[in-house]
Amino acid sequence: MSADTAAEPQRSETSMSLLSVEDLEVHFPIRSGIVLERIVGHVRAVDGVSLSIDAGQTYGLVGESGCGKTTFGRAVLRIEEPTAGSVRLGDADVTALRSERLRRFRSKMQMVFQDPLGSLNPRHNVEMLLAEPLKVHGVGSKAEQRKLAVETLDAVGLPSSVMERYPHEFSGGQRQRLGIARALMLRPDLIVCDEPVSALDVSIQAQVMNLLDELQDEFGLTYLVIAHDLAVVRHLSDRVGVMYLGKIVEEADSESIYEHPRHPYTKALLSAVPQPDPEVEATRERIILKGDLPSPANPPSGCRFRTRCPWAQDICADEEPILRQPAPAHKVACHFDL
Ligand SMILES: Nc1ncnc2c1ncn2[C@@H]1O[C@H](COP(=O)(O)OP(=O)(O)O)[C@@H](O)[C@H]1O
Ligand code: SF4
Ligand SMILES: [Mg+2]
Repeated sequence: MSADTAAEPQRSETSMSLLSVEDLEVHFPIRSGIVLERIVGHVRAVDGVSLSIDAGQTYGLVGESGCGKTTFGRAVLRIEEPTAGSVRLGDADVTALRSERLRRFRSKMQMVFQDPLGSLNPRHNVEMLLAEPLKVHGVGSKAEQRKLAVETLDAVGLPSSVMERYPHEFSGGQRQRLGIARALMLRPDLIVCDEPVSALDVSIQAQVMNLLDELQDEFGLTYLVIAHDLAVVRHLSDRVGVMYLGKIVEEADSESIYEHPRHPYTKALLSAVPQPDPEVEATRERIILKGDLPSPANPPSGCRFRTRCPWAQDICADEEPILRQPAPAHKVACHFDL
């Protein structure tokens, strides 16, 4: 129903991937000097990430704060300009789109933010907030926009009576429903959900995750879900990628990553998650990571995780481990089978 036809992605018959990202890099220049005229280094926020997501599937991207998840999500949507690499959505090369074609293509890729209040204009009522993306893309008459807004509110579990209300009048969970409704208005193919439930009470988190699940079937959506919390990603994802300092260190289907984590960083992240079963919880061994996340402006040589890895050896400082595949569809970047 989008007005955009010029850049309609044509799904190829040989591949089911809707999103395909190759060697994506986002490096931010660090400037110095009185008028910041000198570039003295780069923050390598995303440093060579490849992943693909099949149509209708969910990819969960996890890692601690500062490892580059948001920058990656923003670069996929071209909100952030990639330094290198490519992003394809269907058969369209998103990284090659320019000006008007890029603007129109944006209707196919939307973002849901962690802080719904920060992303919703406080002076706009719900009707205005939901109509805005349609206006930007020239979709429908005022009456059609209103009808679509009512339908979309219904899909996210809000009554049409909220149309005249303002964002501050809603609870956190309701505001996130509004954020999701806004992302749905243009009926996109891909939604990047950046920490969609991190700002919500635990009791509300499950409701919003269930809603995302239902909407995926109803609207045929493909999701990239970003979270620092493994529990969130486990519930929603088909495949999971674990990110550390701008790189993916492990990737597998959701079950394998939780049942058989192979990378020391993944093991450490999982060991920090409390288990609901009291007997399992009593025997849970925590792997405590030394130190803080190193600066992405100056990552450690060799394996980037070596400064915090309990299993690090000499080779880890000298050679960067490649992302190898020790089991079908399970990738890990570590010199050892741990
Ligand atoms: N616009 C920017 N300019 C410079 N550095 C940035 C910018 N945006 C993010 N960064 C840096 O890039 C790194 C990754 O940030 P981010 O993508 O927000 O991580 P995450 O979402 O995993 O917490 C951090 O070191 C952050 O400070
Ligand atoms: S390559 Fe070495 S430092 Fe890196 S995760 Fe494996 S054991 Fe640890
Ligand atoms: Mg983030």
